[in-house]
Amino acid sequence: MSKISSRLAAIEPSATLLVTQKAGELRAAGVDVIGFSAGEPDFSTPVHIAEAAKTAIDAGHTRYTPAAGMVELKRAVAAQNQLVRGVPTAEDEVIVCTGAKHVLYNYFMAMLDEGDEVIIPSPCYVSYPDQVRLAGGVPVLAPTSVENNWVLTPEALAQVVTSRSKVLLLNSPCNPTGGIYNLAQMKAVIDKAHSIGLYVVSDEIYRSLVYDAHEFVSALYSDSVDRERIFIVDGVSKTYAMTGWRIGFGIGDREIVTAMTKIQGQAITNATTVSQQAALAALQGPLDFLPAWVSEYEQRRNTLVHGLNGIDGITCPMPSGAFYVFPDVRAILPRLGPNATDVDFAAWLLDNANVAVVPGTPFGAPGYIRLAYATSMTLIKEGVTRMAEACRRL
Ligand SMILES: Cc1ncc(COP(=O)(O)O)c(C=O)c1O
Repeated sequence: MSKISSRLAAIEPSATLLVTQKAGELRAAGVDVIGFSAGEPDFSTPVHIAEAAKTAIDAGHTRYTPAAGMVELKRAVAAQNQLVRGVPTAEDEVIVCTGAKHVLYNYFMAMLDEGDEVIIPSPCYVSYPDQVRLAGGVPVLAPTSVENNWVLTPEALAQVVTSRSKVLLLNSPCNPTGGIYNLAQMKAVIDKAHSIGLYVVSDEIYRSLVYDAHEFVSALYSDSVDRERIFIVDGVSKTYAMTGWRIGFGIGDREIVTAMTKIQGQAITNATTVSQQAALAALQGPLDFLPAWVSEYEQRRNTLVHGLNGIDGITCPMPSGAFYVFPDVRAILPRLGPNATDVDFAAWLLDNANVAVVPGTPFGAPGYIRLAYATSMTLIKEGVTRMAEACRRL
């Protein structure tokens, strides 16, 4: 009998966390590494939110809450859902979890029987396939392409459907590609999913971060036909720069929320009480800091895309949302060696340019790399200069 369960044999550690950890180790050893790997805002949590948490501690909000979260917070999430997605929402259609990642984990645990298939547009967030496997499901990747702005078409969806398909996972704006669905694209894919009878879980954690003339479109677009089958994942991590507070929201069918609450009650009891108070302050407080953040991200994106496209062998499309660029590096790989991969290129960049990027392979996109621009303009310019100089020597 092996020590560690066989369920874990097929699970990979998170690739993004690994790169970030390696960069941190190099930094600790005195190497001046510029990090483009971590998917978290470099802005600080707004002061009014941090202050609300301090006040909450002093006021004694240090005990358990209901498993699905504080009623006030669930009401605030329901109100925000109505505002953002135009859909009346009741508090018992909301669950508060320990980050959006944990919402997804609870969702898969609640929904999947052994062998149930979850269709995931690829490239995708590294944790999706492994979370599905952990819950006993089977991740089925459905390819998207840069020509289509990384959006899943109904035709591509139809091609991967089998009799075991149960859930379609959407992520717009997308990590790692930055692709977003417009209304027609969202409607087309949701209509197709409904016609097949799939449940849809929509990870909308980057909904506030869209650029140019693009607009965020929820999977709950106003005339969506079967709301009960659409489950929304949201949270405070990206919009409010609250990654370390670990608060995420699940919004959808009561039966699914109840099942997820049962899991949560046995696993963690409730999301951290002080963090729930901070999230409540975030949802009820001003959002006046956000336009400046979005504008700053947009300028960084423009600088990074422009700089990367100036490097021979790298082609970087302009992403529409989130805070990632996802360049195609296939043309540069042969200069590294006959069978060189994006994983080799990322390791080479870390060693030769002291720049940390994440290879595309763990996202399901060999030949690509991902750079997060949630870092200062100065570091972005310096990082691109280093990459360009190193690549010139190849
Ligand atoms: C697409 C996507 N979903 C979910 C998460 C996790 O969010 P949280 O930190 O709230 O768990 C991330 C974090 O990088 C993400 O990129």
